[in-house]
Amino acid sequence: MSTRQFDTYARFYNLLYKDKNYKKEAAYIHQLISQHYSKKQSELTLLDLACGTGRHLFELSALGYAHLSGSDIAKAMIDVARENAQQASKQIDFYNYSFQEAHNIPGKFDVVISMFSAVNYITSFEDQLQTFKNIYQLLEKGGIFIFDYWNGNAVVRDYSPVKVLRKQDDQAEIIRISKTSIDLVKQATTVTFNCLYFEGQQRIDEFEEVHHLHYYFFSEMNNLLKIAGFNVLHQSPFLEPERTIDPYDWNISIVAQKV
Ligand SMILES: C[S@@+](CC[C@H](N)C(=O)[O-])C[C@H]1O[C@@H](n2cnc3c(N)ncnc32)[C@H](O)[C@@H]1O
Repeated sequence: MSTRQFDTYARFYNLLYKDKNYKKEAAYIHQLISQHYSKKQSELTLLDLACGTGRHLFELSALGYAHLSGSDIAKAMIDVARENAQQASKQIDFYNYSFQEAHNIPGKFDVVISMFSAVNYITSFEDQLQTFKNIYQLLEKGGIFIFDYWNGNAVVRDYSPVKVLRKQDDQAEIIRISKTSIDLVKQATTVTFNCLYFEGQQRIDEFEEVHHLHYYFFSEMNNLLKIAGFNVLHQSPFLEPERTIDPYDWNISIVAQKV
C-alpha cells in the first residue's frame, strides 16, 4: 500500500470529519476497557494504531488516560497529530509505523485500539496475519485489542457507488466526491476520492486519492484473530455493545484478548 494514500488527505482530514463524534466513540472505548480490563485509565498504557490525526487519543486523554501512544503509516497524519498535541499541551508519543511494521514500536501496552475501520486498509492475507501477530506481541499478557471493521455482508449489499460530502468551517470548505467499485472475487473495494478545497471564494487545492480496502466476513475475522492467538471477548455493532449483531450491520466492533 502506498503511503501517499493519506498524505494529501491529512491536511483536510479534520475538516472532513469535523462532525464525527470522537467524544462519544472515546466514551464507548472507555466503556469496553472498563468492562474487560482491570487497570484504571490513569495507570494503563494504550496504543492507537492507524491513529490518523490522533482524535481518539485526545478524547481519551480528556477521560483521564495518562499513558498514550499513537502510530500511523502516513507521516502527514502523524505531523498533524503531533502539532495538535503540542498546541493542546498533551504528552502523547507518536510513531510513524504501518500495521505491518508495528513490531518496531517500543514497549508493551495494556490496550491497543484501531478505529474507524483502519484494519480494512490491510489488503493481503499475509499483511493481515502479520498485523494481528504484531498487535499480539505489542500487548501485555491479558491485554486487550479493541477495533472496528467493515462487515462484508453489508458492504456487498449496501455500498454506494457515488457519494458526495461537503464540509465547512469559518475559514474553509471541502467538497469530496467518492466513487466506489467493488471486486466480489477479491473481497476488495477501491474508493476514489476527488476533493476540492476552498478558502473564501477561492479554490486553493484540487486532488485525487485512491484508497484500496479489503472487507472482512465474520468467520474470516474471527479466524484471523484465533490464528494470531487472541481470544474474542466481545463483538457487537459499533457503538451498540448491548445489541446482537445483525448480518447487515456495516460496522462491527471487537474486543480480543491476548491469552
Ligand atoms: C479512516 S482513517 C482512521 C484514522 C483514525 N483512526 C480515526 O479514527 O480518525 C484510516 C487511517 O489508517 C491509516 N492507515 C492506512 N493503512 C495503514 C497501514 N497499513 N498501517 C498503518 N496505518 C494505516 C491511514 O493513514 C489513516 O490515518
